[in-house]
Amino acid sequence: MNVSFEAGDIGELALARDFDAVVGRYVLMFTSDPADTVREIVEHLRPGGIAAFQEPDFTQGPYADPPSSLLDQIWQWIAEAFRKSGADTEMGHKLRNLYLRAGLSDLHLEADRLIGGGPDWGGYSHLVGLLKSVLPFLETSGITTAKEVQPDTLEQRLRHDIVSRDGIVVWLTIVRLWGRKP
Ligand SMILES: C[S@@+](CC[C@H](N)C(=O)[O-])C[C@H]1O[C@@H](n2cnc3c(N)ncnc32)[C@H](O)[C@@H]1O
Repeated sequence: MNVSFEAGDIGELALARDFDAVVGRYVLMFTSDPADTVREIVEHLRPGGIAAFQEPDFTQGPYADPPSSLLDQIWQWIAEAFRKSGADTEMGHKLRNLYLRAGLSDLHLEADRLIGGGPDWGGYSHLVGLLKSVLPFLETSGITTAKEVQPDTLEQRLRHDIVSRDGIVVWLTIVRLWGRKP
């Protein structure tokens, strides 16, 4: 068998071997000590092995052109939920420094921003799906209520708000970084 799965805390998993590559997306932002986590992961890389992580940066959240107060409100709720949960929402900016401190070299740093518009774009449901996934936390944290959010009609209202003005939505920045263990 060529593939096996092990579930557990990334900082505590006892791995019996080293690897050609370690890959992660939207994980480091949730770890309590990302510098330590990256160092431990790199210890399990073979010389010449690749570390490839992708993490977001919330500094400039999604925005619409022309501006949409509904989009801004949705993102404000989502961002507040992430920050209040303790997640590091600027991990994308910190990746390079973490790699350097872990001794990785040959770094390739890039970023992506999705952009879309029109009635068939998948971004509306993605954004509203994200909000729905954190809605229970928003309610228990006292940030907002389902009554205020009206989740059942939210995607339709957002789509209408953008499409009726021939607008576009620019997503948040997703940073990706490849590096090699010398
Ligand atoms: C936003 S999800 C990303 C899931 C997936 N990588 C993706 O890109 O769709 C964050 C993931 O990080 C995992 N995670 C957070 N802290 C972790 C830790 N200390 N050890 C292992 N996994 C962790 C969670 O279990 C969750 O699956």
